[in-house]
Amino acid sequence: MAKFLLQFRALFLLVLLSGSVVRTTISVGVGINYGQIANNLPSPSRVAVLLQSLSISRVKLYDADQNVLRAFSNSNVEFIVGVGNEHVPNMTDPTKAQAWVKQHVLPHLPQTKITCITVGNEVLSGNDTQLISNLVPAMKTIYDVLVSLGLNNQVNVSTAHSLTILANSFPPSSGTFKQDLMQYMEPLIEFHSQTKSPFLINAYPYFAYKSNPSEVPLDYVLFRPNQGLVDPITNLNYDNMLYAQIDAAYSAIKAMGHTDIEVKISETGWPSKGDSDEVGATPENAGIYNSNILRRIEEKQGTPMKPSVPIDVFVFALFNEDLKPGPASERNYGLFYPDGNPVYDIGLHGYLPRMSYSSAAYKTQVVHIFGFLIISFTTFLLQA
Ligand SMILES: *[C@@H]1O[C@H](CO)[C@@H](O)[C@H](O)[C@H]1NC(C)=O
Ligand SMILES: *[C@@H]1O[C@H](CO)[C@@H](O)[C@H](O)[C@H]1NC(C)=O
Ligand SMILES: *[C@@H]1O[C@H](CO)[C@@H](O)[C@H](O)[C@H]1NC(C)=O
Repeated sequence: MAKFLLQFRALFLLVLLSGSVVRTTISVGVGINYGQIANNLPSPSRVAVLLQSLSISRVKLYDADQNVLRAFSNSNVEFIVGVGNEHVPNMTDPTKAQAWVKQHVLPHLPQTKITCITVGNEVLSGNDTQLISNLVPAMKTIYDVLVSLGLNNQVNVSTAHSLTILANSFPPSSGTFKQDLMQYMEPLIEFHSQTKSPFLINAYPYFAYKSNPSEVPLDYVLFRPNQGLVDPITNLNYDNMLYAQIDAAYSAIKAMGHTDIEVKISETGWPSKGDSDEVGATPENAGIYNSNILRRIEEKQGTPMKPSVPIDVFVFALFNEDLKPGPASERNYGLFYPDGNPVYDIGLHGYLPRMSYSSAAYKTQVVHIFGFLIISFTTFLLQA
């Protein structure tokens, strides 16, 4: 028995040590998209432990999944929650908007920090004109609900855009929105200015590379050393495409008379796998892209046009999502497999507890680690 105890203590120490090793490899400030279009993901309470072991404290959801929001209560993780596109039209009705906020946001505050609601995803780049014309009215209605509940200073209202809303993105200083979207962009930009909320873009240099690999330099899209591209109007040098895309969005907003709106990256990433015609979708490139972006975030770097404003990024995505439609790349953006193993090694070794607990509302990391120890100890006793 003494031998057992000794080895048990060694095991305990090992777990504690590996915990502290994990904590030193983390990029402070990075956010992550927690998409759930999959049938094999770990339970939200296990994901909560994984993210805490990685010290990731900003998470973006595409809905307001109450199981996730509950599993992260008292966790220090900040959430962006989403109103799905299908619900956007109803949100123009104050009664329905109020019901949505009361059902999806209010019950989780303040135990779970919800700091932003995105109303729709990539609505303006779609072809549903009814949905498009409802977007800003829905955002305003939700904002008014937050005002009436006294929450407008702690929860932003925004929406995420694909970069196809830009008519022009190079040189970055010439960025403009598409002319046919102007009637929607004007009230949207006014809304952001008045409510001091961020303008969110989903930016994928990978798409540019994939569609034109012979012209787009891989080093430029992967943040590797390269001579960069100079904006002939500002003379600013861009050593990577993501920064050029962010500054193109700033320019498009500026062209509408606003310099008071912050541009943030609600999604960016690189797939580790793709169909045979999806050039560049490899674990090597995905690892390089994501580790380089983590480094830039750690350095609190700004873009050439906004050097003093650190880039604000939500990486896409936490897990590979096996049920996403479209080309193979769509199912391979994850940093992790659903079993918690990293898809490629960029120093992000998290801890996903093995045991799947009952769906009781809330557990702490301590409970999980003790659970892990007990299982390990039992396994050890059985093997001894
Ligand atoms: C929108 O509201 C209508 C009327 O209340 C309801 O029947 C419908 O299900 C709602 N749409 C969605 C997508 O929830
Ligand atoms: C609109 O887009 C969807 C998917 O993006 C497509 O399936 C549909 O055919 C399009 N509809 C029209 C009218 O273009
Ligand atoms: C809301 O967005 C603004 C602009 O990006 C930002 O300064 C502020 O911190 C955000 N508020 C919250 C609660 O995250």
